[in-house]
Amino acid sequence: MMNIFSRELEDKILSLEKTNKHYWNIPREVAQMLYLFIRLSGCQRVLEIGTSNGYSTIWMAQALKDNKIGYLWTVESNITRFKLAEKNFLTFDLNQIITQVFGHAPEIFDINSNIREGNFDLLFLDATKKQYQDILNQCYPFIKKGGLVIADNIQSHQFALENFVINMQSDERFDSDILKIGDGLLIAVKN
Ligand SMILES: C[S@@+](CC[C@H](N)C(=O)[O-])C[C@H]1O[C@@H](n2cnc3c(N)ncnc32)[C@H](O)[C@@H]1O
Repeated sequence: MMNIFSRELEDKILSLEKTNKHYWNIPREVAQMLYLFIRLSGCQRVLEIGTSNGYSTIWMAQALKDNKIGYLWTVESNITRFKLAEKNFLTFDLNQIITQVFGHAPEIFDINSNIREGNFDLLFLDATKKQYQDILNQCYPFIKKGGLVIADNIQSHQFALENFVINMQSDERFDSDILKIGDGLLIAVKN
């Protein structure tokens, strides 16, 4: 197991993991992969759709913090989980790196110029499955050329995401593949 957090924060991570089903969090192996990916790629600007209580956000923001550069915007439409995430980000001292956006994607993009001008290196999609395609289409201009899209639940929600996967595989704007880790990830590079 990687030692990314201090002992005290690792205990808090373990405590968050006790409720991971309730908050639909990514499993730890995926969190660690996202952490490593951000460390290795040096990506600096991350957009997450679907914060929940902030578990995945914490891992990605910690990677940006350890790289000593970068910012993360995360969008959540449920006020209870939005506020819970806010508390968790303070606990992990990541609130300087994370900008929380309360609202529903993709509509929120129309009123948030920070997102529109984000020029993101990484989009992590982990919200309502039936909206992945619409959110991605609307985010497309905000993702850098060569930037990455990672979409969660490709295997766990195979039926709901079937059309999204088929579309992505034939979408010339991206090169994509499926990674069988956790609930299944679709990873795509913007051409
Ligand atoms: C699967 S959970 C996110 C889990 C989180 N990424 C993690 O792994 O710790 C999905 C969250 O997205 C939020 N959500 C769903 N559709 C959304 C949308 N269109 N815009 C913003 N938030 C959305 C839900 O309220 C829920 O809290």
